[in-house]
Amino acid sequence: TRGVREFFMKWGKLGRSLAYILASSERSYLLRQAKKVPEAKGDVRAITGQPFFIPLYDLYLTYGGIFRLNFGPKSFLIISDPAIAKHLLKENSKAYSKGILAEILEFVMGKGLIPADDEVWRVRRRAIVPALHRKYVSEMVGLFGRAAENLCHKLDTAAKHGEDVEMESLFSHLTLDIIGKAVFNYDFNSLSRDTGVVEAVYTVLREAEHRSIAIIPYWDFPIIKDLSPRQRKVAAALKFVNETLNDLISICKKMVDEENLKFEDDYMNERDPSILHFLLASGDDVSSKQLRDDLMTLLIAGHETSAAVLTWAFYLLAQNPTVLAKLQHEVDLVLGDRMPTIEDMKKLKYTTRVINETLRLYPQPPVLIRRSLEEDVLGNYPISKGEDIFISVWNLHRSPVLWEDPEVFRPERWPVDGPDPTEVTENFRYLPFGGGPRKCVGDMFATFENITAVAMVVRRFNFELALGAPPVGMTTGATIHTTAGLNMTVTHRIRPPVIPVIGESTITTIEENGSVKSS
Ligand code: HEM
Repeated sequence: TRGVREFFMKWGKLGRSLAYILASSERSYLLRQAKKVPEAKGDVRAITGQPFFIPLYDLYLTYGGIFRLNFGPKSFLIISDPAIAKHLLKENSKAYSKGILAEILEFVMGKGLIPADDEVWRVRRRAIVPALHRKYVSEMVGLFGRAAENLCHKLDTAAKHGEDVEMESLFSHLTLDIIGKAVFNYDFNSLSRDTGVVEAVYTVLREAEHRSIAIIPYWDFPIIKDLSPRQRKVAAALKFVNETLNDLISICKKMVDEENLKFEDDYMNERDPSILHFLLASGDDVSSKQLRDDLMTLLIAGHETSAAVLTWAFYLLAQNPTVLAKLQHEVDLVLGDRMPTIEDMKKLKYTTRVINETLRLYPQPPVLIRRSLEEDVLGNYPISKGEDIFISVWNLHRSPVLWEDPEVFRPERWPVDGPDPTEVTENFRYLPFGGGPRKCVGDMFATFENITAVAMVVRRFNFELALGAPPVGMTTGATIHTTAGLNMTVTHRIRPPVIPVIGESTITTIEENGSVKSS
């Protein structure tokens, strides 16, 4: 606009004023431009054909901790900066909803805790969190042990017959069996048999994953919804699962009515310690639809996530024999042949680090989704209402700026005698269970479940990736799956004789150099 300004300048006082106004508007325009979030350029086709969080990593290395990605008519802000993640999840969490995630999951979770908007979420979170009290989690450790024992029987048979096993589906069945019993006292028994309910649950789960990566929401188009064989199958499966949940709610209501109930904070029914029983016994005043949404949400949230953690933990262990040996040594010392108890959880320190490090390299889910409900400032950039935002936990966890040797599986990066790493200790560069008010309610449950399963399996067996099996690639829905399963050769372990440590006062740890320390 220089020419125009010079022209105005010749017009005396009025002209100079106009030139001044023009110059200041130009300055504020330039300032606004300077504050525009950097825009990633390139061919969006690069995104397709691979898990979407992988190209986002390369873009992060080029554009930094906040950038915009235009995808057809849609635009997303990609966040890989710990301070911005903290702002979104914790400091100004009220200004954000679950956005696309809530839209995708509505068909299965309704107004369950994960997609729920602030109003519903507040009430349901207050009702559900108390159900996961310490006595409940302690009881659950027994359940984890029994379920892992069933898995060990399967592995035992495979090892005896020299057959390879596909571990990902075994872990999926293991965690389904656990979550069914833990949330609504239902024995899926999926490790032993395939029932209609198990198949229906998997149909619904796969659909939720499918919808989370589909580009066009074709299931919303009326004709396709009714005619597509896939969508008809999903609708039937969902109906079946909902009916099963309704039956379970009725059975549980009857049990609660017949009970001589004295409700306290750590209330637990010995015959049925499930979350459902707690909620009904607490007098939780809620519609059946809301209760069903909550149960379905807990089922989905607690099933695939834990299965994925176990899958990737064993994948990493198979390639890191030194870590596996150190892990087995700790498990021998702490457990020997005993079933794990809640007291063992704090003693299995190196096992915990293996899980922590697995969750760093393979976060579940790899991105967290939000939508802005009002204008805000992220980093130094003003953003508008209605922005769709992906917080890439994958990028945060593998950032070369934030971590030393980010690609290396090294459980020792957190000393066993230090605090367990969380989003708080790591100031939001590490988000294994999210952070802020919407943080995972099942973090302790899941950690103990994973510790128990890993410990019970590695003390009996050694593992190798099966010879001739397809390479273990990644694919994604809500969690990171393998492309063609995790095929492993399992052999019985010949264990050195050990004296298990019994008694709460003795804590045995394994030092960095492999030596054993008891205190
Ligand atoms: C939320 C991870 C297991 C129930 C979350 C979030 C993450 C997460 C990252 C935050 C999502 C967000 O902010 O958008 C995991 C991982 C697990 C696990 C990695 C296993 C290793 C479980 C289990 C349960 C559970 C076992 C239930 C017993 C939930 C629920 C929420 C949630 C209900 C929503 C909380 C809210 O919005 O208030 N989880 N989770 N999760 N998780 Fe988990």
